[in-house]
Amino acid sequence: MAGVKLISLTKTFGDVTAVNDMNIEIKDKEFFVLLGPTGAGKTTTLRLVAGLEKQDKGEVFLDNISVNDFTPALRDVAFVFQYYTLYPHYTVRQNLEFPLKSKLRSFTKSEIKKKVSEVSRILHIEHLLERETVNLSGGEMQRVALGRAMVRTPKVFLMDEPLSNLDAKLREEMRRELSRLHFDLGSTFFYVTHDQVEAMTMGDRIAVLNEGRMLQIGTPDEIYNSPKNVFVAKFVGSPAINLFKSAIEKDTLIIGKKEMVLGIFEKHRNVLKKYNKKNIILGIRPEDIEISREKQKVNSFKCAVYFSQSMGAEDILNLKIDNINFRAIAPPKYMIKLGETVYANINISRSHLFDSETEECIA
Ligand SMILES: Nc1ncnc2c1ncn2[C@@H]1O[C@H](COP(=O)(O)OP(=O)(O)OP(=O)(O)O)[C@@H](O)[C@H]1O
Ligand SMILES: [Mg+2]
Repeated sequence: MAGVKLISLTKTFGDVTAVNDMNIEIKDKEFFVLLGPTGAGKTTTLRLVAGLEKQDKGEVFLDNISVNDFTPALRDVAFVFQYYTLYPHYTVRQNLEFPLKSKLRSFTKSEIKKKVSEVSRILHIEHLLERETVNLSGGEMQRVALGRAMVRTPKVFLMDEPLSNLDAKLREEMRRELSRLHFDLGSTFFYVTHDQVEAMTMGDRIAVLNEGRMLQIGTPDEIYNSPKNVFVAKFVGSPAINLFKSAIEKDTLIIGKKEMVLGIFEKHRNVLKKYNKKNIILGIRPEDIEISREKQKVNSFKCAVYFSQSMGAEDILNLKIDNINFRAIAPPKYMIKLGETVYANINISRSHLFDSETEECIA
């Protein structure tokens, strides 16, 4: 098993810079997630690592060895694609055996048999071995696709949105399976997704990518609690973070036409001095707004509930103060009704402040 290092990796297609000066160091045995919206350059990055695409600039290291001149086969990585790439009229067993029968490797019949039974046991697909893959369910096919990657214990697993074609329940189940698999195999996973829940629940570390550029690398906790810019703050978290354009005046943050005037958090005072009389962007996650029926002492604002979504364990409240809209999370036991007036209590110590021009985090 091995680590992966990308240095100044750049790839353009005509006018599009799909991957722009990317630097990543993935540790051996790490579950590393590349997270970004469609077109961000995620697949291109994986293809560069696998050698299926040639970079314009930069270097790829596997296990501290530069593999720029290595063919895909020599790089010894396993690629699990976004769309199943199984041979439909082969049985599951034949699909699993296929990578082991390559001329590059010389496995004996009994070695192949042993490997296939080991992998199918781990993936719980033993009962499917003699079936054709054409009529398996999506989740079963995905397991077989994973199995095909696993049979030959590659240096690194590259996974390109392997769960995106599954239904919600199966996706959740497979998320757990993949985490377990990663633990059991003790291998390096380089996993691509546009789904922030997948990234947050499975990744040891996450890199957030947009338009070919890396915006932040960190643990799920760092990405969620200390986003470096507005893009990362918005991309991670559901319901999404509330962003308010705010003017700074002395020790207050003013939103709208003073519908909301918040006292600045002690710790932010110094950094906000240079923004006096200027605008910033205030970010507050919905769970950092507490709902009450009585006005609280500080940063408590009367608002109307104009829409509410029940999520079972929590209610997402869409709130309104004149033209200012935002969201908060409340426990269902509060039994808050549409049209009701409540108080939104903003936990300013949990706020994120961004420069309104650069959109970079300032505090
Ligand atoms: N072979 C190609 N020829 C031309 N442009 C390409 C090619 N491959 C990718 N691109 C462009 O590079 C950019 C990044 O594409 P890429 O497939 O890496 O994105 P992605 O993050 O994987 O997106 P998605 O989430 O939709 O799969 C896109 O603008 C895409 O159109
Ligand atoms: Mg892609």
